[in-house]
Amino acid sequence: MSGASQYRYLFSPLRVGPVVVRNRIVFSAHLTNYAEDGLPTQQHADYYAARAAGGVGLIITEEHSTHPTDWPYEKLIHGFHRAVIPGYQKMTRAAHDHGVPIFAQLNHNGGQASSMFSRLPVWAPSPVPDPMFREVPKAVERREIAEIVAGYATVAGHCAEGGFDGVELQCSHSSIVRGFLSPATNKRTDAYGGSLPARARILLEIVDAVREAIGPDRALGVRICGDELIEGGSTLAEAVEVARMMQATGQVDYINTSIGVATATLFMIEAPMSIPPGYALFIANAMRRAVSLPVIGVGRIKDPVQAERALAEGHCDLVGVVRGQIADPDFAAKARSGHATEIRTCLSCNQECVGRMGLNRWLGCIENPRTGREAVPLPPPSRRSRRVVVVGGGPAGLQAAATAAQRGHRVTLLERQPRTGGQVAVAATVPSRAEFLDVVRNLAAECQRHGVEIRTGVTGTAQWLLDQAPDAVVLATGARPQPPYWAAGLPHVVDVRDVLEGRSEPAGRVVVVDDLGFHQATSVAELLADRGCEVEIITAGMVVGQDLGVTLDMETFNVRAQAKGIRQATDLVVMGAAGDGRSAGQDGRSGGVELSLLHHPTGQPAQRHCDWVVCAVHQAPEDELWQELQGAPFEVHRVGDCVTPRRAHAAVIEGHRVAVTL
Ligand SMILES: Cc1cc2nc3c(=O)[nH]c(=O)nc-3n(C[C@H](O)[C@H](O)[C@H](O)COP(=O)(O)O)c2cc1C
Ligand code: SF4
Repeated sequence: MSGASQYRYLFSPLRVGPVVVRNRIVFSAHLTNYAEDGLPTQQHADYYAARAAGGVGLIITEEHSTHPTDWPYEKLIHGFHRAVIPGYQKMTRAAHDHGVPIFAQLNHNGGQASSMFSRLPVWAPSPVPDPMFREVPKAVERREIAEIVAGYATVAGHCAEGGFDGVELQCSHSSIVRGFLSPATNKRTDAYGGSLPARARILLEIVDAVREAIGPDRALGVRICGDELIEGGSTLAEAVEVARMMQATGQVDYINTSIGVATATLFMIEAPMSIPPGYALFIANAMRRAVSLPVIGVGRIKDPVQAERALAEGHCDLVGVVRGQIADPDFAAKARSGHATEIRTCLSCNQECVGRMGLNRWLGCIENPRTGREAVPLPPPSRRSRRVVVVGGGPAGLQAAATAAQRGHRVTLLERQPRTGGQVAVAATVPSRAEFLDVVRNLAAECQRHGVEIRTGVTGTAQWLLDQAPDAVVLATGARPQPPYWAAGLPHVVDVRDVLEGRSEPAGRVVVVDDLGFHQATSVAELLADRGCEVEIITAGMVVGQDLGVTLDMETFNVRAQAKGIRQATDLVVMGAAGDGRSAGQDGRSGGVELSLLHHPTGQPAQRHCDWVVCAVHQAPEDELWQELQGAPFEVHRVGDCVTPRRAHAAVIEGHRVAVTL
């Protein structure tokens, strides 16, 4: 059965106002940081072209700012300048060349911004500071409201000139319109505040102005937040009422949905893997029951089966698949052609997409080294069909093997463990991180499809490699735990990997030392708390698992940690440890491990007495084979942690980068 017939709903066309989409898969709006000086770039066009070529039904671009007072991050598209039009034309041609309609999202972020870039006061309905930007916005006056409305119309006009098939008003998670709609941020007592119709007045004015600017031949959509998840914020009932108002205007062609507020409950908008797939569909469902306009449902729809199900169960008419198509531009085409198992499913790790946005870097993907680099040419293989041996089956080795084989080389991959995956497979043993294993599954499947011979339980020695005399060897031998100086020889002081790989089973009171600021400490802490240990995480940093903030994992971890009784202490440096390997006594002082700590902001000493210490600390590269193969009569490369230990994205990128040079 072909994919299209397998997915009865997903591949049926739909009319969205004046536009017909060929299937129900939407690449919904998301920032890319590909803009330069406020203008769209060729990088945008190439990025969208790849998804259009990959069979998506509809593209909605990232937001285009509608007014100079709106500049919350550096690389925003300034839609209010006419200079954007040539870039718009490139973007829209890129989609149209593949027969895919493309809409532009219009927005003014309102008070969810700072004046840092614009050097202008931030505008909002009321002077309510945003919890992230912490800047008091200026409450807009009547003539400024008129200016905002006019700004939307101007940008809509630019979009029409630029060839967009429609525009979407982002009124959902970071928007001045959301600010007006929400009782939490709209404290006005004039005609734009108070009752819901009054709070929605600006939206109705914008809808009128934008419709007039784009005419009847382009689609107009409105993205609404179904629940802000903040004290006193908009609720589902009000959001549904706004959807009804939109339908009643007779000017709006579809409703897009969202959950959460960008700067207070962002983790619910781009949910991490610990939140179940389809978690926000209830919003689309409620809207769909209230209006007859097409409704887009979104939120961790990872594969075509989930998307089909969302449609079949009547939650929505179109399905937003955002990170799923950042990770695999061919998501739709693979499903349609019956090759859904070849989709490189998104992990919802947020490491290279959302995470890089927060760091002002261009959008990428941990699994897809080509995301954001779609049109950068790869060098042709230097020679065909070379014999390549990859040593190590973690993400770096798997990616190197998959890319090399895809480029026509004959590849053997050796993994000394009984299964591939390296440290990712270990990290994914913790329930809240289980989906991380998808990267291994995806890469191993890619290796298989391209004919890589994977040999597990085999150690690639220097002698074996010399005997085989391949054309090239890629070493991806990973990293090993490295005990900190204060732990040397101490019993009951172990590494996270010792616990996750089952070599140690700490019990009783456990202190986890977090030097890495990522998932290692928090994951092992959860695992041990689940096993009944009394767990405290200590860190020299200002917060435990510091970088979990960037990937939006912090909030859900803290909720689970609270429920599991995991304690957290910050600003503590381990200065030394002592212990005899016996369990700590009931008195809390005898036996066990004694940690001497320094509270570095005050210079005060501190102590912890526990049964076990688990270290989430820096590792050392496993580079012995690299040393032994110096002077080998064939090419030797190394990738990933055996160069120097880093996170998974570096392993994948390096595996790919080296493989294209073979
Ligand atoms: C990197 C990134 C940036 C985003 N920026 C926007 C945006 O500018 N406007 C918007 O309406 N939604 C934005 N979103 C939210 C997405 O449209 C979508 O609702 C969210 O990613 C959940 O869908 P998914 O699980 O399929 O990724 C963004 C999402 C991501 C991943
Ligand atoms: S970086 Fe992670 S969450 Fe983002 S698209 Fe890639 S796999 Fe998905």
